[in-house]
Amino acid sequence: MNLVYLDYAATTPVAEEVADIMAQHLTLEGNFANPASRSHRFGWQAEEAVESARITVAKLIGASNREIVWTSGATESNNLAIKGILEGFESGHIITSSIEHKAILDTCAYMETSSLKHGGFDVTYLEPNEEGLIIADQVSQALRPDTRLVSLMLVNNELGNVTDIKSISKVLSNHEALLHCDAAQGTGKLAIDVTDMGVDLMSICAHKMYGPKGIGALYVRKAPEVKVHQQIHGGGHERGMRSGTLATHQIVGFAKAADLVMENLDVEIAHNRQLRDRLWLGIEELGVQRNSHETQCSPNHLNVSFTGVDGEILLASLAQLAVSSGSACNSASVAPSYVLKALGVPDELAHAGIRFSVGRYTTEDDIDFAISEIKRVLLALR
Ligand SMILES: Cc1ncc(COP(=O)(O)O)c(C=O)c1O
Repeated sequence: MNLVYLDYAATTPVAEEVADIMAQHLTLEGNFANPASRSHRFGWQAEEAVESARITVAKLIGASNREIVWTSGATESNNLAIKGILEGFESGHIITSSIEHKAILDTCAYMETSSLKHGGFDVTYLEPNEEGLIIADQVSQALRPDTRLVSLMLVNNELGNVTDIKSISKVLSNHEALLHCDAAQGTGKLAIDVTDMGVDLMSICAHKMYGPKGIGALYVRKAPEVKVHQQIHGGGHERGMRSGTLATHQIVGFAKAADLVMENLDVEIAHNRQLRDRLWLGIEELGVQRNSHETQCSPNHLNVSFTGVDGEILLASLAQLAVSSGSACNSASVAPSYVLKALGVPDELAHAGIRFSVGRYTTEDDIDFAISEIKRVLLALR
């Protein structure tokens, strides 16, 4: 049976070169030691690999190596950013949006709870405008003197819509609030420069860009220094911001993935865009609503709702296409996507929302097969 993977926004396969270098950092013959072992050459070599990887991953986002804190992924980076910043305050206000990833929404909800030592923070959840975007004006209107943190994503995981983070940072230029950006879906898909964007903290991860799962990083601006309180204690690794033995093989895998992205980003963007647009061209006449923004969208995302069919049945019938309804991280829930609902998409269309996401290994044949499958299934269901 032909099976086509169109769920690159959920995760990507690990590139061969990445798997190779990871394998070289595991066994006795390889660079396996604990990078924190200071008393022997094995440890020094592992440390060297980790520090060289730190330089590479920093470069991917225009940061310096001393601004990278290794984490287990974007979920942990988001937790560390939000909790780690707010721990420095007794109370205050956070601005985020209703279409963030659950790793932000659940963390913000936790910060609201009165079980915290000081009784919780206020959170403003901005709603997307009629174009499905969060814009600087909204942030400007929501700002309060006690706003401590603004946390907004670069690329929405369900829609692919891109937030203009640079404009938002300008709104904050005369305010003490820090700007955190969840860029899990942006790294490897778009050019990113933390300085140009004006962010203070940024979450990234490897597994959306052909690196391994279970490794990510938090960018923490160095000058002027942003103070992040550690959330995982023990050992004082990562300059006291995140303890735990570093996973050398994951870290070098992340760096290799970053190298491959940097070598080829323009080509990859063009490849993704061409295939995504080919898919849209092939289905746009089929009674379909485009939920993703037409232009301000990541080149590999296409979120659509098909009219006149039951979403669950449609997805089940497209068994030869690996696609996602809403976010894969919420796939246990059958509630319509909260992101599409926030966009004002009616329940039945929100239920019929499908996210297609293409990537490095997608071919024109894959897209043509997907189009013919969608046509076949829609004909049968309608
Ligand atoms: C926007 C966004 N943030 C955070 C995450 C969580 O990342 P990780 O899987 O590395 O914990 C994801 C993954 O789906 C995501 O798309």
